Amino acid sequence: MLREIPQTFIKTEESHLYQRWIRDFYNGKIQVLIIKNAHEELIKSIGVLEEQDLYGKKEVPIGTDDKKEDHVWQEEDMMWHNDRAYLNSIHPFVGLYCKQADEGSSPTYFCDSITAWKKLDNELKQKVIDEGPVEFSVRNYFERSKYPHDFRSEVYKRAFLMKSRSKQNIYRNDKFGEYVFFSPAYAGTDYYDELNKIFDDEENIHIHNWSVGDLVIWNNMTVSHKRDHTPSHVKRRLMRYAFHKD
Ligand SMILES: [Fe+2]
Repeated sequence: MLREIPQTFIKTEESHLYQRWIRDFYNGKIQVLIIKNAHEELIKSIGVLEEQDLYGKKEVPIGTDDKKEDHVWQEEDMMWHNDRAYLNSIHPFVGLYCKQADEGSSPTYFCDSITAWKKLDNELKQKVIDEGPVEFSVRNYFERSKYPHDFRSEVYKRAFLMKSRSKQNIYRNDKFGEYVFFSPAYAGTDYYDELNKIFDDEENIHIHNWSVGDLVIWNNMTVSHKRDHTPSHVKRRLMRYAFHKD
């Protein structure tokens, strides 16, 4: 359990509270903010929406009724990751809005990477610090698991793989505090197996079961996330967002 976080904000008419939640979200005091019964348009009041990879869109569907529409497949598990961690322009804040989540839909899992860092043993901490920047790439994802997206062509896929890599520090110490920026989907590190143990510790993990109208926004630096697969016949319709402060 994430002790005080994620903070849950039930949308009310108390707009002064809302402003405080959003401020604390941007300054890192709140890592995951769950807004129940949100209107889909609310996301636009929280920040400036960013275009997302592969789709070039500010709103990306996860699961769809129209299979011809460009979308993220719900039928594959998604490994633990931070969105766009394979580029230097990582989205700092991201969100999901739930349009439909029928019985049997996968929840989304969130890992508090500040708490996870605190609990690593000192020897491993030092090794991760000493290792410095390592490669984060989509190619690593391809080698480890099935990627939940269809590519328009082989050429496009190769080009995407070529550009989707960067060097990232797993140990971070910045305005959000000290944390472990570990995306096992993308990261190449000598301490892969040891670091993966952070996901076995239930105290680091929050599980969000979706209801229609949930808007969940989170700090994409200090929180990693994953989901399991959902069968095709079960409707799980989410919209994905990335944004920054106005
Ligand atoms: Fe994601």
